[in-house]
Amino acid sequence: IFEPHRRASAGLALADRTVRSELLSGMASALLSPFEVGPLIDGELTLGDARPHRMVCPHDHRQDIGQVHWSDAHHIEAAISSACRNAEAWDLTPVDERARILERAANLFESQRTQLMAVIVREAGKTVTAAHDDVREAVDFLRYYANEARRLFSGPISLPGPTGERNEMTYRARGPFACISPWNFPIAIFTGQIAAALAAGNPVLAKPAEQTPLTAFLATRLLHQAGVPAGVLHLLPGYGTTGAALVRDPRVQGIAFTGSNAAAWAIQKGLADRRAAIVPLIAETGGLNAMIADSSALPEQVVRDVMRSAFDSAGQRCSAARMLFVHEDIAPRTLSMLAGAIEELSLGDPMDYATDIGPVIDEQAQDTLDAHKLHLGREAQLIADGGMPEDCRAGTYVSPAAYEIERIDILKSEVFGPILYVGRYQGGMLDKVIDAINVTGYGLTLGLHSRINSVADHVARRAKVGNLYVNRNQIGALVGAQPFGGEGLSGTGPKAGGPNYVQRFATERVRSTDI
Ligand code: NAD
Ligand code: ALA
Repeated sequence: IFEPHRRASAGLALADRTVRSELLSGMASALLSPFEVGPLIDGELTLGDARPHRMVCPHDHRQDIGQVHWSDAHHIEAAISSACRNAEAWDLTPVDERARILERAANLFESQRTQLMAVIVREAGKTVTAAHDDVREAVDFLRYYANEARRLFSGPISLPGPTGERNEMTYRARGPFACISPWNFPIAIFTGQIAAALAAGNPVLAKPAEQTPLTAFLATRLLHQAGVPAGVLHLLPGYGTTGAALVRDPRVQGIAFTGSNAAAWAIQKGLADRRAAIVPLIAETGGLNAMIADSSALPEQVVRDVMRSAFDSAGQRCSAARMLFVHEDIAPRTLSMLAGAIEELSLGDPMDYATDIGPVIDEQAQDTLDAHKLHLGREAQLIADGGMPEDCRAGTYVSPAAYEIERIDILKSEVFGPILYVGRYQGGMLDKVIDAINVTGYGLTLGLHSRINSVADHVARRAKVGNLYVNRNQIGALVGAQPFGGEGLSGTGPKAGGPNYVQRFATERVRSTDI
């Protein structure tokens, strides 16, 4: 029963040309006609009176991928009431049954991978490889949390006590959980939050990002098909106001949130204003992540890993490297290779397997990033800008770029896109670099390139970050192997895909008996 999570989802061998061409033609035919989604209440697609919203593809705004009907106050009320009615039965469902349902869902996600990936590429603008990884991570979360549920919920945990007394602790569900997710991992984070909440026996009110409701709809349908009772998982597509309505409602017994700091602060305030039971908020937010390369680092490896860390998914990963600090001894060579590598990146249609960088999510993101580049053009020295091919003009693209900065405080908060800042540091200044990183208050990922073990140990001791990656890239945490999450401005923890996560969705009860 306590069998550990043994391996990650195998995924497809994308490097194999035959596998790849079969996948790509399957993805193209999965998208033949746009489809319509909306709130799923008690398993039923429930449309309101308002006109549906047209969902355009980030890579080309002339193309539709579907329409979404947003949730209104009636949907929210119906979903919360149903979740409350069904809470006890789901809590009392044997844990092995809950776990098996999640495992069936994992198998269904794998068997429907082609369609899921097609929608992720078109709706979120992710490249084929990134969409593939997103589905794999969702599958890993489902299996990992199923195992975690068995480990934690299978029976009471015996605690010590004096002779004649029996002490036991059990984990129990809390009640309806709001799971509020971002668009940048439209299936992995959406599913991970839900899987943990369901594993712990809670009904779920899922509020996906307004940019990716279609992916969320498909995933929810598959979870229902796997056996999650209709009254236990409701989908409420909508803007932040829909999430805020869930946060305000005192019947909601916990919030799992991943997204921006601004939204996390609004949620904290909303919970405080309730004047009702104090409930857990699991908030995973942004990062101002750095990579440090000391004088012993190999410039080729640094460039390989910083390119992946900064520009994969067009820099739209919370884990992405935003700043590279290079020791002055290796700076000239590193910066010249970095410039060359940026110029080689190909921007284009994310459905094309050769594309390195797809679009950013929407016009608002594009405007923010363009404005930031204009500002940097005045404040910093351009190292390279990859440029924009003509056929990208119909989408929301931002060309990848790196700038050399003199002062780290140019960067005050997360800028979510393909922009990298580079700073040089002198020998003996490593601690100043670590101080500068710590002082930002963010603490998500840190990359380190060094061939000196004592440097790695020193950085690990001093840097206040959740995930430190040494001599590799700093993205793509693997469920179960690299539990993921930050501290400070980057989040509350506990880490997703780690052994302390599911407990936060549960309450602990202790029974003491004289025998
Ligand atoms: P966002 O904060 O704009 O939105 C996230 C979700 O919160 C959406 O569903 C949105 O509708 C909802 N929301 C917005 N305002 C709300 C409110 N007042 N009350 C309740 N819900 C509200 O973030 P985004 O743009 O979707 O995602 C990008 C951000 O997410 C980046 O900052 C990124 O770093 C962060 N992120 C963090 C992690 C992590 O694990 N730490 C992972 C992925 C993304
Ligand atoms: N888990 C994601 C990564 O590590 C956010 O890139």
